[in-house]
Amino acid sequence: MKKYLAVANWKMNPGTEGEALDLFSTTLNAAKSARNVEVVVCPPFPFLSAIERRWGIHDLEMRSEAAVHLGAQDLFWERDGAYTGEVSGPMEKELGVSYVIIGHSERRRLLGETDEMVNKKLQRAFETGLHPILCIGEKERMGDDIPEIVGDQLKKATQGISGMFIESLVVAYEPVWAIGTGKPDTPESMHKAAIYIRKVLAEMHGEGSVSHARVLYGGSITSTNVASFIRETSGEVQGVLVGGASLKDDFAKIISSLEEIES
Ligand code: PGA
Repeated sequence: MKKYLAVANWKMNPGTEGEALDLFSTTLNAAKSARNVEVVVCPPFPFLSAIERRWGIHDLEMRSEAAVHLGAQDLFWERDGAYTGEVSGPMEKELGVSYVIIGHSERRRLLGETDEMVNKKLQRAFETGLHPILCIGEKERMGDDIPEIVGDQLKKATQGISGMFIESLVVAYEPVWAIGTGKPDTPESMHKAAIYIRKVLAEMHGEGSVSHARVLYGGSITSTNVASFIRETSGEVQGVLVGGASLKDDFAKIISSLEEIES
């Protein structure tokens, strides 16, 4: 049975290391009793090392015993060198990181991250042995259909990447208008988005490579709406990417809501 994926994107929160350790500890307790949910926490970079020091996630990963996986919120596409302010995939791996968010809309919008940069980062993540969580999503929605820009972002991000890697890709569909607004997309529209994402991946990389790829929904997820995105999408959605609610007790409730769904 495949587990649902619950990814916590803490963004640039919380304010202190002490709060970060407390928050991780709460999430860890919730994750320990979950059998059907794989939990990933993506803290800001400085807290990755604090969490690694406290819990030794790297060694737990080596023994396949980590109840919570660590994720980074970004990585740079080169392995090392003169790139002021950047953090490499190998540095993240050493801290026990196994997942990495790539192409989040906040980075695209505020930091000028382009599809070409996202493509290079995706390639580097795979080569480093990290599981990338590729974020795509449109800024505005006009009609009922999933806008072509979503397919475009996906094509450009995965261009030239081997089908073998695509098999382990996680794609998070996050309509920008639904992020942090309290106005999530509907499960019906997410269903369409997930089918569209698989179709684009299959056309580019072959049917075989998409059967294992996972599709997540992100944008104003809470413990109240999370189950509908799984139950009402006919098995097309394998989990969620959670921002705001991952900083509160609600994340434990999100894990238990997912745990209660029969898969
Ligand atoms: P939100 O953020 O859950 O606060 O809407 C989701 C995200 O940006 O990943």
